[in-house]
Amino acid sequence: MTTTHRTVWQTPRAGNISRLAQQTEQLGPLPPDQIRVGVSAVGLNFADIFALTGLYSATPAGAFIPGLEFAGTVLEVGADASGFAPGDRVMGVTRFGGYASIVDSEPDYLIPLPDDWDFAQGAAWPAQTLTAWYALTRLGALEKGLQVLIHSAAGGVGLQAMKLTRALGGIPVGTVSSVEKAAWLREQGFDKVLVRERDFARQLTREDLHFDLVLDAIGGKVQQASFAALKPMGRLVVFGAAEFTPTGKRPNYLKAAWRYLRRPRYDVMDMISSNRSVLAFNLIWLWEQKAQMRALLAELGRVSLPPPHVGHRFPFDDVHAALDLLRSGRSVGKVVLEPDAHR
Ligand SMILES: NC(=O)c1ccc[n+]([C@@H]2O[C@H](COP(=O)([O-])OP(=O)(O)OC[C@H]3O[C@@H](n4cnc5c(N)ncnc54)[C@H](OP(=O)(O)O)[C@@H]3O)[C@@H](O)[C@H]2O)c1
Repeated sequence: MTTTHRTVWQTPRAGNISRLAQQTEQLGPLPPDQIRVGVSAVGLNFADIFALTGLYSATPAGAFIPGLEFAGTVLEVGADASGFAPGDRVMGVTRFGGYASIVDSEPDYLIPLPDDWDFAQGAAWPAQTLTAWYALTRLGALEKGLQVLIHSAAGGVGLQAMKLTRALGGIPVGTVSSVEKAAWLREQGFDKVLVRERDFARQLTREDLHFDLVLDAIGGKVQQASFAALKPMGRLVVFGAAEFTPTGKRPNYLKAAWRYLRRPRYDVMDMISSNRSVLAFNLIWLWEQKAQMRALLAELGRVSLPPPHVGHRFPFDDVHAALDLLRSGRSVGKVVLEPDAHR
C-alpha cells in the first residue's frame, strides 16, 4: 500500500519551544534522486533545543521541522537513486527535517543499519559519533597515551567520545554534573570521572590534574578552567555552549547577553608562549560537503564500537517531554523519539 501522508513536528518560527506542534502533511511524489524512509526512531540532539529557541546560528528562517538524524526502513527508491532497496534498514542524517514519520533523503545521507542494532540505536549514532570522532581525531590529533578531559561524559556526544578515546588508546577523564551520572559511568567501566564542583578551577588544581586534550561543549568558567589545566602542546576543542541552555521554553535574552559578554576569550600571543591552543567547529557545515562526510563515516565504520547507549525512549507524540528531559541536563546517553513507522 502506498503511503500518502506523514506526521511531523513543526514550528512556525524559532524562539519558543512551545510553538512546536504536530501536523499531518500530504506526501508528494518521491523526487527521482531520493529515497523514502519510514522512520522508526528519531535521535534528539542538544542542537534541536538551540534551533527551536533561535540560539543556534544555523537556525532556519521561518517554519521548520527540527531533527538531524533518524533510523527506519526504506519504503521507496527514486528512479535515479541507487544503493538501497525497499525493506532495507537504514540510519540517516539530515539538515533539519528529522522529526517526521517519513523522510525523503538522498542516498548519500543514508547508512545501512547493522543487523544487530535496533532503530533507536541507529538514530542515536550518526550525529553524536561523528562529532566526537571529528573533535578527537581531526582537531584533537588524539594519540595513544594522551590524557583527554571530556565534559558531559554521560551525554550523547560525551559518551561516544569516552568510548572512542579508549578505543584509540587515549585515557578518558569524564566530567558530569551529578553523582548519579558519575556512578553510571563507572558502571560502564570508566574509572576516571569527576563530578564538577562549583569552583571547577580549584577542583582541578586540588587534584593536580593536567590534560593533553579537552573536549568542551559547556563554555564559561568550566571551559576557562579546562584551558588552564592544559599541558604544553595541549589542545582545547570547543563545539558547543550548553551554559546558554534556557531554563524555560524560551531564552532569557538578558541572561544570555550577560553570559555572552563574559564568555572566555583567548589571547593568541599567550597561546604561543604557553604552547597551548584552542580549536572549534560546527559539523552542520559537513552536510554540504558530502565527500568529506562519507570519508568520515567510512573512517568511523573501521572503528568497531558497540552500539550507542539509548537512555530514554519516548513515543513520537511526547516530543515536548523528551525535549524537556534533554534540556534539563539530566539525561544519560541518547534521547530518542519512536514514531510508528509508515504512518
Ligand atoms: N559543534 C557541533 O557540530 C556539535 C554537534 C553535536 C553536538 N554539539 C554540542 O555538544 C553538546 C552535547 O550535545 P548532545 O546532543 O550530545 O547533548 P547531551 O550531552 O546528551 O546533553 C547535554 C549535556 O550538557 C550538560 N550541560 C551543561 N550545562 C548545562 C545547562 N546549563 N543546561 C543543561 N545541560 C547542561 C549536561 O550534562 P552535564 O551537566 O552532566 O555536563 C547535559 O546532559 C551540546 O552542547 C551540543 O550543542 C555540537
